[in-house]
Amino acid sequence: MPFTSDFKTQLISASDRLFSLLDRFQQVRALVVGDLTVDEFVTGQVERLSREAPVLILRHESTRQVPGGGANAVYNLAALGGQVKAVGLVGKDAQGQALRQIFEAAQIDTMGILVDGDRPTVTKTRISGHARQSVTQQIVRVDRKSDALPQVDLQHQLADYIRQQLDQVDVVVCSDYGDGTLTAPVIQAALEHPLSVVDTQVDLHRYPGATIFTPNLPEAEQAAGYAIATPERLQQAGRELLQVTQAQYMLITRGEEGMSLFAPEDSAQTIPAFNRTDVFDVTGAGDTVAAALALALALGATPWEGALLGNLAASIVVRQFGTATTTTDELRVALQDLLTAL
Ligand SMILES: Nc1ncnc2c1ncn2[C@@H]1O[C@H](COP(=O)(O)OP(=O)(O)OP(=O)(O)O)[C@@H](O)[C@H]1O
Ligand SMILES: [Mg+2]
Repeated sequence: MPFTSDFKTQLISASDRLFSLLDRFQQVRALVVGDLTVDEFVTGQVERLSREAPVLILRHESTRQVPGGGANAVYNLAALGGQVKAVGLVGKDAQGQALRQIFEAAQIDTMGILVDGDRPTVTKTRISGHARQSVTQQIVRVDRKSDALPQVDLQHQLADYIRQQLDQVDVVVCSDYGDGTLTAPVIQAALEHPLSVVDTQVDLHRYPGATIFTPNLPEAEQAAGYAIATPERLQQAGRELLQVTQAQYMLITRGEEGMSLFAPEDSAQTIPAFNRTDVFDVTGAGDTVAAALALALALGATPWEGALLGNLAASIVVRQFGTATTTTDELRVALQDLLTAL
């Protein structure tokens, strides 16, 4: 891998600390406030053509539900060993119940998940079919969501719950997919915690004074208002976004280019992607970055150490189809492999 000698030196001298951080991930108590989504995969075998319309008829085989969006951030934190309290909204529907069950099976505290009677659980259903002996392919996706915001009293209930929890958690993560959970009162309550990690697809400026943001490149471009096509533009965007948000750090994740960390006084530090060859599906890699970063920062890691562990965790989940999680055991192996390959 094309690592600079500076990067190698930095990694070697941090290696003991990085292993020790991984050993302590399970001590961290995290509150994750997110737009909770269910990713649903419905699969069937093609039986025949319908007589009602020129469409396929599938014989249902399986329905699989996995946490998506902010729920994937929650799930990633728990898989990494963190003690997680989830905060968000689900509808009065089967998907909301399924998500609660998935979380409870993973020892995630769901007391902060409130039922919103006016809006459905955000659900993205992929319907896929296959003929007798052929590959399965997606035919259509059906999304369930509301464009309305939650009622004001529900926003305040979320904010109240968050405030009750603040002194019992080491870090707050906001995972904002623009689906309406993170309204102004909710954000204000979340940011009262001294350590906050914000991963938002929209409107970074709504989170003034958060500790660190983790926008991906398109999100950073959107927030900056220009394309980030050169190293100069990247530096400029990092600086400007720090100013706009009043954040202590800005971590721009750059897909196959890895990530760049910005702090107000320092020059940017770039961490290359660790795995560029066995990449199958990058969906949700950003949630994994935010999860590992949050756990590390809660343990007193430097932002560079947190970013490095986030990058390492992402290098593992991009090998798997769909949103995925990883564990500290896998991270230890990956870290050892990385050091050996230097
Ligand atoms: N094509 C790729 N090759 C190697 N590593 C990748 C690739 N895409 C993503 N990664 C790893 O995942 C990290 C986060 O990816 P990315 O910037 O795409 O996040 P994201 O768009 O927020 O993801 P999502 O919103 O789907 O969770 C990167 O910093 C990198 O470590
Ligand atoms: Mg993202």
